[in-house]
Amino acid sequence: MTTLKRAQGAAGARVLGLGAYRPRRRVTNADLAETMDTSDDWIQSRVGIAERRWAEPDETLIEMAVAAGGKALAASGLSPDAIDLVIVASASLRKPIPGMGPLVAHRLGVTRPGAFDLNAGCAGFCYALGLATDSISAGSARNALVIGVERLTDVTDLTDRGTAVIFADGAGAMVVGAADEPGIGPVVWGSDGDQHTAISIPEGLPHMTMAGQAVYRWATTKLTETLLQAMEKAGVGPADIDVFAPHQANLRIVESMAKKIGFPESTVIARDIIQAGNTSAASVPLALTALLESGEAKSGDTALVLGYGAGLTFAGQVLNLP
Ligand SMILES: CC(C)(COP(=O)(O)OP(=O)(O)OC[C@H]1O[C@@H](n2cnc3c(N)ncnc32)[C@H](O)[C@@H]1OP(=O)(O)O)[C@@H](O)C(=O)NCCC(=O)NCCS
Repeated sequence: MTTLKRAQGAAGARVLGLGAYRPRRRVTNADLAETMDTSDDWIQSRVGIAERRWAEPDETLIEMAVAAGGKALAASGLSPDAIDLVIVASASLRKPIPGMGPLVAHRLGVTRPGAFDLNAGCAGFCYALGLATDSISAGSARNALVIGVERLTDVTDLTDRGTAVIFADGAGAMVVGAADEPGIGPVVWGSDGDQHTAISIPEGLPHMTMAGQAVYRWATTKLTETLLQAMEKAGVGPADIDVFAPHQANLRIVESMAKKIGFPESTVIARDIIQAGNTSAASVPLALTALLESGEAKSGDTALVLGYGAGLTFAGQVLNLP
């Protein structure tokens, strides 16, 4: 058997730029209370959401992905030619053929990259970031664009108070590139497929159903270990984490996770859910972008991120902010 040449990978990968797109239309809890039996008080106390963005018809998955991706590219300082891998994570694509990756890349002027979609529910962005990082370390890519984009309103029954108050739309993106020192830690990922139906679009239905309490229990009991492993693999501990940005599914889940890990008081906790709702695969880059824009997080900060959701899936890693 002929011995084949080994790819020359980079020593590591780091984040070079972030970008976000928030749909124009704000929907407050008071707006929802006009059409369904709910209240601002119930939503704020159980989920922590004050308002969310719902995309208009022209704010398609492609348009939002291109908008967020373009901003991340601009922030990275790279020209589109430098990107050789584009991964678009989404769980709300209603027509899967063709995938969005190649068109998003084309619209951004990225020529002939490896380009594809990835569906790992709300963990999609962190899965995609793990793949991009490993591709750079393995030598399959030099610079990658990773996008999380959702129009969850397309797959939500907007008259069902159990899900309509939670799910929302948006896009977030990150450019990652080869580096001499790793600026993104190893991904820790996994799945609990025995809970496959906990968040699903059942056969014959056009929208999602969710076993809210089961997902809540799972998220607040099973994922602390993943957070600890992600820190251990990156060689850091809770005291080193400047920013904690888990998936924005429920503010109570965010607070519970933060309490269990025991971060120092100085750690900034992402609470983008208050304004953005649950945007699934878009929530982690949206939350990081918001913290950088507001100045609560700064360049060089060490962030711990975690995605989790339908599947059930989970993925987390530590990264240095650009
Ligand atoms: C969905 C979730 C907010 C529901 O909160 P909860 O405290 O578990 O509430 P329950 O489902 O037990 O419902 C309690 C009551 O509130 C009612 N209720 C549900 N949604 C409501 C709403 N939007 N407004 C007012 N009342 C509501 C229920 O009908 C129920 O009424 P009942 O006691 O008369 O039957 C919570 O379970 C959750 O966040 N789970 C995790 C889901 C998640 O993170 N999913 C995304 C993962 S990616």
